[in-house]
Amino acid sequence: MSAQPVLLFLGAGPKLGTQIPPIFAEAGYKIVLVARSLQDGFQDNGYYHVKADFSDPTSIPEVFDKVKQKVGIPTVVVYNAVQYKLDDPADPFASLAPESVSQFHTAVAVNGTTPLIAVQHAISAFRSLPPTTTGKALIFTGNILNHSQFKNRLCFGIAKTACAYGIRFASVAYAKERFRQAIYPYHLHFLDVHGKRQNGLQFYYADERTTSGMPVMRDIDGTAAGQEYLKLAETSEQLPWLYTYTQDSGYADFGEIDYLKTVYSDEPEHLKGGR
Ligand SMILES: NC(=O)c1ccc[n+]([C@@H]2O[C@H](COP(=O)([O-])OP(=O)(O)OC[C@H]3O[C@@H](n4cnc5c(N)ncnc54)[C@H](OP(=O)(O)O)[C@@H]3O)[C@@H](O)[C@H]2O)c1
Repeated sequence: MSAQPVLLFLGAGPKLGTQIPPIFAEAGYKIVLVARSLQDGFQDNGYYHVKADFSDPTSIPEVFDKVKQKVGIPTVVVYNAVQYKLDDPADPFASLAPESVSQFHTAVAVNGTTPLIAVQHAISAFRSLPPTTTGKALIFTGNILNHSQFKNRLCFGIAKTACAYGIRFASVAYAKERFRQAIYPYHLHFLDVHGKRQNGLQFYYADERTTSGMPVMRDIDGTAAGQEYLKLAETSEQLPWLYTYTQDSGYADFGEIDYLKTVYSDEPEHLKGGR
């Protein structure tokens, strides 16, 4: 019998952090939540909490070590932490001036480089799981900024874009590893030498959109995210790394729809906030 799957949820806040994990718990996963405001230890609901600050990327190895010791090897990793401050839309690069550049470095760490360190640790953890383990997926909660240049979100967008590049890269680089392991490389389900199914490593930049392909911002739906993330976790082959989805209809490919309009728009809804 295979071991109970483990969801490691990095950056658990009041929104997605309370809505995605119960969907995995219901599906039989052990749950680990990580954030700055949590204290280490098991909770009454069986979840394990870890305190960590992702503005320092070196926090990640310790988190993985604790989780392996206390709960088990993560089979699914979600990176959901977010930190940003809006830039001045009239002069976005002012955020990189000496007096404010430290916030840029923090935003790039929390939203961009720390999740990439988590990708490396996830790969190492997934490789140590039995080949037939379901999951082995890292899902980064993204948004439209890897595509669009909102004038007041320069720093945030740089970080999301860096992470999107790494996720896309991993989805290609580790697909090859699957080929090497498999004896029937062109078969959808990769089989090992004993004919057992090999589940490969998967990497996703997940981004909920409106039905017209625009960002959902504050209307992001945690239940829809949980259902989509669980679907990704339970699929044995890599689906599109840029996993854009809508609340009601799941994955949808919006291509390059209307992004230039966003670049030059000053509409209030794009300047007021939201992630
Ligand atoms: N597709 C879209 O249009 C769209 C719309 C909205 C949001 N999003 C994305 O959804 C994701 C999460 O949104 P959410 O609403 O779930 O946010 P949330 O409720 O605020 O959860 C994020 C949590 O991350 C934790 N965090 C922040 N900085 C951290 C740090 N330095 N170290 C460790 N943990 C940290 C915070 O908890 P602590 O303060 O306790 O550390 C925070 O509560 C973001 O990536 C955002 O970009 C996408």
